Amino acid sequence: MGRKLVAVVLLVGVALVVWSAPDGESDTAARPATPAPGAPTGAPTSCLPCHQAVVDEWRASMHSRAFTDPQVRAPDQADDFRKTECLPCHAPRPVFEYGIEDATRVVARVERRHDGVDCLSCHGLPDGGVAATRPGLTGACRPTLQPDVSTQALCAPCHNQHQTHDEWRASPAFREGETCIACHMPRVLREGGEAGAPRSGRSHVFPGGRHADFATTGFALGHEVRDDVLHVTLENTFAGHNLPTDSRNRAIDLVVTLFDARGAELPPAEGVGVRHPGGETGTARLRFRNPYRSSGDPSTQLPAGETAVLDVPLAPEAARARVDVFYKLQPWIPDTEAHWSTGEDVVLR
Ligand code: HEC
Ligand code: HEC
Ligand code: HEC
Ligand code: HEC
Ligand code: HEC
Repeated sequence: MGRKLVAVVLLVGVALVVWSAPDGESDTAARPATPAPGAPTGAPTSCLPCHQAVVDEWRASMHSRAFTDPQVRAPDQADDFRKTECLPCHAPRPVFEYGIEDATRVVARVERRHDGVDCLSCHGLPDGGVAATRPGLTGACRPTLQPDVSTQALCAPCHNQHQTHDEWRASPAFREGETCIACHMPRVLREGGEAGAPRSGRSHVFPGGRHADFATTGFALGHEVRDDVLHVTLENTFAGHNLPTDSRNRAIDLVVTLFDARGAELPPAEGVGVRHPGGETGTARLRFRNPYRSSGDPSTQLPAGETAVLDVPLAPEAARARVDVFYKLQPWIPDTEAHWSTGEDVVLR
């Protein structure tokens, strides 16, 4: 019955368009049910007039690239999304439509998939309005207070795919009441372009492992020489979840290289640390990674708040050491192609 009515209205609309625009001019004026002027259609570009700064931040985030990201589209990954089971979280419908529990399934969007995880994926409410952080707001987008938008539960349907929430629940950050957005949505002061007066908000850039400035605040390197052994430590200091978390493509390599007094590299220390394809260089190395399930290898991620130790015996000729941390977007690539790296020189004798 309702469908028929819509069809009739549409037919009348089409008739009106045909009737009113015989010369091929714009048909928008003649459409019935024209949306209110300035009302957003759902695409992030439709939020621009009133939320320019937030849209710009989102464009710089990985959420906006979740569908176009070449790493996701690779043949051995989503294969240009021929693997349709990859669509739900990489081009999602609003998560509030289905509830936001860890176990809730995310459902794929049919339209505008190139927008990836878009504004409405996180803010869209079943009644067509948007989830707001404060009560009593009015605007063309129909903001309604939805306290859950400010909690870790919003992130869970997509991010616990890789157990980030389980790791977080076992972490010191959880015990201190620190949630995902405390770290991943730093406070920003928006100068203008926002609806209403300029005010404090939370960044939609969502920095993660890729952002060296952010990620390097998450761990601490240390070293000590005792009894002809160089003890190198790497501590997960941010303590919000494992290091690295999430994607099984990620790897963090801790590499120690010893040099003699003339600067020549010493040979690898036998049986110290772990070597792997793409990780053959250096005197000793350790890898932190959640491997693919099919490999059967155990996880070597560094849990929140814990410290890993790499003990490198010092040959008599060792005079200097280089300690490096390499962050890799794929596990098999060599150190020279790491996404970012950091490290320190150590004078031994
Ligand atoms: C024509 C202007 C306009 C457009 C277009 C618009 N909004 Fe809004 N939006 C507002 C106003 C006005 C408010 C409430 C006052 C404020 O935030 O200063 C608001 C508030 C919000 C809030 C709540 C803010 C808070 O503090 O909790 C969210 C979320 C939001 N909009 C999302 C969107 C999204 C997503 C789109 C695009 C799909 C969009 N808006 C399009 C005007 C607009
Ligand atoms: C609807 C699904 C969905 C929701 C909800 C969601 N995310 Fe994401 N998030 C993704 C996807 C998919 C990616 C990966 C995009 C890519 O790399 O191609 C991502 C990427 C990220 C990254 C960047 C990782 C990197 O590589 O740098 C961070 C950080 C992040 N999300 C945090 C959050 C937080 C915090 C929340 C909750 C406030 C959240 N996300 C909610 C799906 C989601
Ligand atoms: C239940 C939600 C969900 C589904 C389904 C899903 N992903 Fe993701 N994916 C995510 C989230 C969340 C991230 C972001 C976390 C991260 O970067 O580690 C992500 C990140 C990725 C990344 C890393 C992107 C980058 O730029 O580093 C790849 C690759 C990826 N997904 C591939 C896939 C493939 C292939 C499928 C289908 C077999 C798939 N995903 C299905 C949630 C999902
Ligand atoms: C105490 C701060 C803190 C908290 C709380 C926290 N994170 Fe992180 N997160 C970080 C840091 C630092 C990194 C960068 C190091 C890394 O890649 O693990 C990171 C990295 C990530 C990444 C990027 C992984 C990748 O493959 O690049 C994702 C996704 C992520 N966090 C999601 C979450 C989610 C979801 C929550 C809540 C359940 C959360 N984080 C809670 C600090 C935090
Ligand atoms: C990955 C999930 C996610 C996506 C995608 C997302 N938001 Fe948000 N947004 C949030 C969260 C979480 C908050 C609430 C932070 C808090 O509690 O203060 C928020 C807050 C806001 C606010 C309130 C003001 C502020 O800055 O805190 C506005 C306005 C807003 N979002 C608009 C948008 C628009 C427009 C887009 C698309 C360009 C968008 N959001 C995309 C998760 C998201």
